[in-house]
Amino acid sequence: MTDLILTGGTIVHENGRETADIAITGDLISAIGAPGSLGNAGEIVDVTGHHIIPGAIDMHVHFREPGYTHKEDWGTGTQAAAMGGVTTVFEMPNTHPPTRSVVEFQKKQDCAKKACVDFGIYGLLAEDNIDEIDGLIAAGANAFKCFMGNTFGNLPSPSTGAMLEGFEKIAASGLRISLHAETASIMAWRQAKLEAAGLNDPLYHIAARPEVVAIEAVARAAILAEWTGARIHVLHISSAGELRPLAEAKARGVDVTGETCPCYLFLDSRDYDRLGSIIRVNPPVREEKDSIAIWDALQTGIVDMIATDHAPHTPEEKKNDVIWQADCGFPGVETQMPLMLSEVAAGRMTLEHYVKISSANPARAFGLWPMKGRLAVGAHADIAVLDLARKEAVQAARLHSRGKVTPFEGRETIGAPVHTLVRGQFVQRDRALVSDMAGHGRQVTAIQNMPEAKPVNTDMTLAHLLGDTA
Ligand code: NCD
Ligand code: ZN
Repeated sequence: MTDLILTGGTIVHENGRETADIAITGDLISAIGAPGSLGNAGEIVDVTGHHIIPGAIDMHVHFREPGYTHKEDWGTGTQAAAMGGVTTVFEMPNTHPPTRSVVEFQKKQDCAKKACVDFGIYGLLAEDNIDEIDGLIAAGANAFKCFMGNTFGNLPSPSTGAMLEGFEKIAASGLRISLHAETASIMAWRQAKLEAAGLNDPLYHIAARPEVVAIEAVARAAILAEWTGARIHVLHISSAGELRPLAEAKARGVDVTGETCPCYLFLDSRDYDRLGSIIRVNPPVREEKDSIAIWDALQTGIVDMIATDHAPHTPEEKKNDVIWQADCGFPGVETQMPLMLSEVAAGRMTLEHYVKISSANPARAFGLWPMKGRLAVGAHADIAVLDLARKEAVQAARLHSRGKVTPFEGRETIGAPVHTLVRGQFVQRDRALVSDMAGHGRQVTAIQNMPEAKPVNTDMTLAHLLGDTA
């Protein structure tokens, strides 16, 4: 017996659209067919006039638990995702404690038990946990995160030597390594001098982290990935400059993907005056020329996906006259979809392309395809139902995240997810959270249907040279 039919909507795929009904049985899409043709079901929901897309898959959220639950926890974070049409998130390891060992990984799995959307958990690749990597892989890490530059949590970024050994170890697993690609030593050097000179205005945040930090880091990471055969992902692409080493690495055959976030598309240096320290994020929001170049790269495929870097902090932590004292980042998992749909409404991107960059591409890059990232019989019923005409305005006070401050305050949006389903269950309905869905979210199994991992230069890995065949 079919559990649920969504009838009367337009299903939008990455390569086209159709007017069709969707039947859901258990976790899965069980049929797609002409309107009215799918028979009966436990519930039939009329979505006439709405568009139906696969839920967004956000590879970059910070849910702060364990350790910083005054900023967010797995309950509030996944509720914000549900409200934002996001059905799967990958959560970052800069919690307290950081996710750097099996014990800490299991602790995070425990915290995640209250999730209402599906999730992956990143393991950390740092200077001091190289010996934990095999254990983290065995424990079920969905991907790794390497902070090449320091950011919230102040996890020391690994030396290039430690990074290379980490890449060697992870390469054979096929798991992707996501990079905060900014070079720590350049930024520490510059920030110390700017700070000592008393240069405390928000724009000096860009001066401390000019785009060369990203260019250098992306190029270096790509070289290590090429040498080891590891798969990598460049997080929060912020500059025109880093697109060149990214494109060159892709052209050389390096398995590298890239993401950008709404702040790098919609804000630029002209917004620093108005927003003050609220705009502080790592990497920084840069110049208009950067956002133009990143938009282009998102259209041409050099940048593969949109993520949010959902990084909530309290207003007190965000607002400071001394830019160096303000916490970096802001919430985003709830606002990404309305912000991007507004650009679809403005004709800047097709809805099909939005499906590709918000769901299909992340699913493929992180091994979730074919169960996620598409609407097809046999796939998970992870769905966002859209009202493309719905007008809203971003209001931090109404966000479901605990982080009640956003640089998009007051921004008007056109288009919003009016229902969100995770594996067949409503987690958001008619723009309201569905209660009692805590615990519905499950950790995803990564690495389905991906080409086999291809480690190279294996005779030169430290594990091989030291006779460690484990
Ligand atoms: C993130 C955070 O607060 O955890 N902050 C940020 O500015 N982006 C960390 C990060 O992703 O760099
Ligand atoms: Zn980062």
